[in-house]
Amino acid sequence: MKLFTSVNDVTDISGLVKEALHLKQNPFAHKELGKNKTLGLIFLNPSLRTRLSTQKAALNLGMEVIVMNIDKEGWALETRDGVVMNDTTVEHIREAAGVMGEYFDILGIRSFPSLQNRDEDYSEDILNKFIKFSGLPLVSLESGTRHPLQSLTDLITITEHAPQGRRPKVVLTWAPHVKALPQAVPNSFAEWMCKADVDFTITHPEGYELDMQFTNGANISYNQEEALQDADFIYVKNWSSYQDYGKVITTDPSWMLTRDRLGVTNNAKVMHCLPVRRDLELGADILDSTDSLVIKEAGNRVWAAQIVLKKMLEANI
Ligand code: CP
Repeated sequence: MKLFTSVNDVTDISGLVKEALHLKQNPFAHKELGKNKTLGLIFLNPSLRTRLSTQKAALNLGMEVIVMNIDKEGWALETRDGVVMNDTTVEHIREAAGVMGEYFDILGIRSFPSLQNRDEDYSEDILNKFIKFSGLPLVSLESGTRHPLQSLTDLITITEHAPQGRRPKVVLTWAPHVKALPQAVPNSFAEWMCKADVDFTITHPEGYELDMQFTNGANISYNQEEALQDADFIYVKNWSSYQDYGKVITTDPSWMLTRDRLGVTNNAKVMHCLPVRRDLELGADILDSTDSLVIKEAGNRVWAAQIVLKKMLEANI
């Protein structure tokens, strides 16, 4: 594996999940694989789970890790081509990424969308420039349109907790929020679930339709209660509008999942990628109950990162 930027970089997703669960049982079995190899983790935006879990995964494989919050600690980056840099930007992405190519063996990049210009965000310009100019194997730590390490984690978690002998019903539900959030997590979750062996439904208010390239094969409903019927897993997430790009169309609190809504489900387990705003996005009554998988889910971020790094190290031996 040279790139991990979407589900399309994986040939066998159920095989990858199985291998990740095997690593969970044997975290230090490949401690020699990463010896004398360096992972660079470059953040243009904040992180808790992605940063810590990917660092831990690399350490489990015997790698050295260097982390840089480039938005705070680096020179102001210019990402556009053909501009005279006579304003606030100091270093061009061509040189910055090229230099990283000299220091690291594998690169991880987090770069959120601006939510100002859909075409720009969905072109994945920054991610693609880091790939091109670093020349390194690259792991997306969340980009303009996707969060593949989170989605692999989510599939690992669903596989671990799935009912035996039948396909689980998985529901992605929109949740209210006061801020405009990217579509990266729901886009990515949807495209992984559409390829996984699950019965997948998405529910959201009108105006929150995701780009169809990510939802092909999903059932889509504007009625949350109907969608939750017989659910085994409910994935809660806010996102801003794709059509009216980056806008918050509603903050309707009746979309917030609380424990009383779970009655129509099949004792559903509730998931969220975190961070979560309690009693705005998701009821604290769920987060503080055994219905919530959010902490176990975050724990599984290590195994998702570790299997991806292991595949990249093996490909480059
Ligand atoms: N879920 C997730 O990516 O968490 P962080 O933003 O804290 O890394």
